[in-house]
Amino acid sequence: MSDVTIVGLGPMGSAMAETLLAAGHRVKVWNRTASKAEPLLAKGAGQAATAADGDLLVVSQISYQAMYDSIGDARLDGKVLVNLSSDSPERLRAAARWVAGRGGTLITGGIMVPPPGIGQPGAYTFYSGPKDVLDQHATTLEALSEITYVGEDEGLAMMYYQAQLLIFWSSLTSHMHAMAMLRTAGVSPLEFLPFAQETFTQLGSDDGPMAYAKILAEEFEAETYPGEQNSLRMQAVGLGHVVEALEEAGMETTVPNALKRLFERADAEGRGHEGLGTVIESIRKP
Ligand SMILES: NC(=O)c1ccc[n+]([C@@H]2O[C@H](COP(=O)([O-])OP(=O)(O)OC[C@H]3O[C@@H](n4cnc5c(N)ncnc54)[C@H](OP(=O)(O)O)[C@@H]3O)[C@@H](O)[C@H]2O)c1
Repeated sequence: MSDVTIVGLGPMGSAMAETLLAAGHRVKVWNRTASKAEPLLAKGAGQAATAADGDLLVVSQISYQAMYDSIGDARLDGKVLVNLSSDSPERLRAAARWVAGRGGTLITGGIMVPPPGIGQPGAYTFYSGPKDVLDQHATTLEALSEITYVGEDEGLAMMYYQAQLLIFWSSLTSHMHAMAMLRTAGVSPLEFLPFAQETFTQLGSDDGPMAYAKILAEEFEAETYPGEQNSLRMQAVGLGHVVEALEEAGMETTVPNALKRLFERADAEGRGHEGLGTVIESIRKP
């Protein structure tokens, strides 16, 4: 079993420390607010003297600025930092240079589960950075989640993570709009739930006319967006009706209106006869 220091004891870092302790690793912990370490010290963790105390540092903080603030001007010679915090891909690339400049190596990651999912089946983390260094620590990191290595570019793990969060937040916000609108007509959220679940399932499925995650990926690969059966223009008009339905129900419409404007722009750009996927071309050229 190996030695690992967890830097950052929010809900994620605390769950990581507990999971690694339960898997038999020797864990040290560090947090800006020192009192958050107490429950972990009681479970057998050691107190790291500084945020750079250890050869393998797993960082989980609100942003990469927090890592700079925590490590300060400490040297990192020979150390491996695995940072699982959120930030922009460019900031991750800059952080890799910063860590290298102090003699260490940065592995970046985006962990795809909330705290209760850490160490559980189905948990996975996108990792990027030098693969040989990641491989040296794979056994320890596998206690947290499956390792999904996506490439050398330190920004890439975050881009995958953010791609997934974009789908998560935008589709679930639409689900919130849908539930709120129906509620004004007396339909309870749980009455609507089976229909919403059916849509989520079908969109992610492998076959069928509603398997749109796959349909759009294949169309984007081919850069061809057939619209004979259901043109974008028809869908832009339909989306306008959705916005009106929300307005009639007295709902907030910022996001649906933004979607409507995007569809209308793709139509105005001359591609209204193509299918929904043609919106990708407007997204690529703002
Ligand atoms: N929670 C989730 O479901 C989830 C899932 C996947 C990924 N993530 C990502 O995991 C990371 C951690 O998330 P979290 O939910 O545990 O909590 P969080 O609220 O994002 O981060 C809390 C941690 O950041 C530290 N921190 C904030 N500013 C700091 C600074 N300037 N210097 C030093 N430390 C600082 C806090 O220290 P103090 O205790 O001293 O304030 C605390 O340890 C985030 O990047 C988040 O996006 C979260």
